[in-house]
Amino acid sequence: METKITIMHEDGLDMDALEEAGYIIRKGGLVAFPTETVYGLGANALDEAAVKKIFEAKGRPQDNPLIVHIAHFDLSAYAKEVPPIAEKLAKTFWPGPLTILLKKADIIPSTTTAGLDSVGLRMPSNKIARTLIEKAGLPIAAPSANISGRPSPTEVSRCIEDLSGKVDYIIGGDKSEVGLESTVVDCTVTPPCVLRPGGITLEMLRDINHDIYIDPAIMMKSDNNLKPKAPGMKYRHYAPKAPVKIIKGDLQKTIEKINEIVQNYIDRNMKVGIMATEETKKYYPLGEVVSLGSRYNLQSIAQNLFETLRTLDDRGVDVIISEAFEEKGIGIAVMNRLNKAASFDITTL
Ligand code: TXA
Ligand code: MG
Repeated sequence: METKITIMHEDGLDMDALEEAGYIIRKGGLVAFPTETVYGLGANALDEAAVKKIFEAKGRPQDNPLIVHIAHFDLSAYAKEVPPIAEKLAKTFWPGPLTILLKKADIIPSTTTAGLDSVGLRMPSNKIARTLIEKAGLPIAAPSANISGRPSPTEVSRCIEDLSGKVDYIIGGDKSEVGLESTVVDCTVTPPCVLRPGGITLEMLRDINHDIYIDPAIMMKSDNNLKPKAPGMKYRHYAPKAPVKIIKGDLQKTIEKINEIVQNYIDRNMKVGIMATEETKKYYPLGEVVSLGSRYNLQSIAQNLFETLRTLDDRGVDVIISEAFEEKGIGIAVMNRLNKAASFDITTL
């Protein structure tokens, strides 16, 4: 399949391209597009055949439901029951990086929700994404626009790398602002439960309802007793080709330990990538050192995490060693993705 590509910016929308991409969605095709979290791979959420193509293009497991992207506040168009807390969360955080799970309306086919009777709804803040939804005139089902298992794309070049030849259209925009996927909040239960941490932090959600909590299964390696409720959270995910190891603890000790490990790998003729920060990068004399951003700005770390994992793969490293980050604010989401990329290979000092 030939993939058409158009690059634009949020402050200079190419309306003709968006019109054409909207038409492709209406006709049952696949369009990759930017959002403020990560790039998405979209199809008509109401068309089973179109949605099936998403699963094929990504190589996505059949039991993993898709998020439905909308451009209006009418939750009841796609959900059967809309509790007041869901309305309130939508009013407060939409458009933005929050997905609200509700009981699905019959109009949403079960292929979209992978057989579940709930549906995830999200209104993205990215103007290209919202205009595309409006032009399509339909809700757009969109997972992250990567081959399943790989880190989500935050730049159009990565969508092209993963999906060229497999989708009809790739719309490019700027680098994704948040860099990690949306927060998923299950509003079919009381109190609501966070199934995936993201750009809308637990602290922000608790300002609206103090009882909101995080599914305890997601911050640890899944075992038989405790399974994450979002099907997607159980897979080895966000993973580069090279294995990732996390070193956690006092910063000075972390630096010493990482240098020791790096030396060991180099002695065995292995190429090592180090995920460091602006504050620490100068203390690593060996290895491929990449700064994720500043420790004092966890948002910058979130924005660069997936791209850095892919960059280190491109440099052909055999193993990646990463510092750990404070689990507060968006740091919870950062550590959730990093832990999963590392399959929970964490050394605590
Ligand atoms: O930021 C985002 O949410 C991006 C952009 C493109 O909007 N999309 C995204 O989609 O991350 P995806 O498919 O890569 O991740 C969706 C996550 C998965 O972990 C999935 O299991 C969960 O949301 N999910 C979706 N619908 C669900 C449902 N009805 N019940 C439980 N989990 C659900
Ligand atoms: Mg994904």
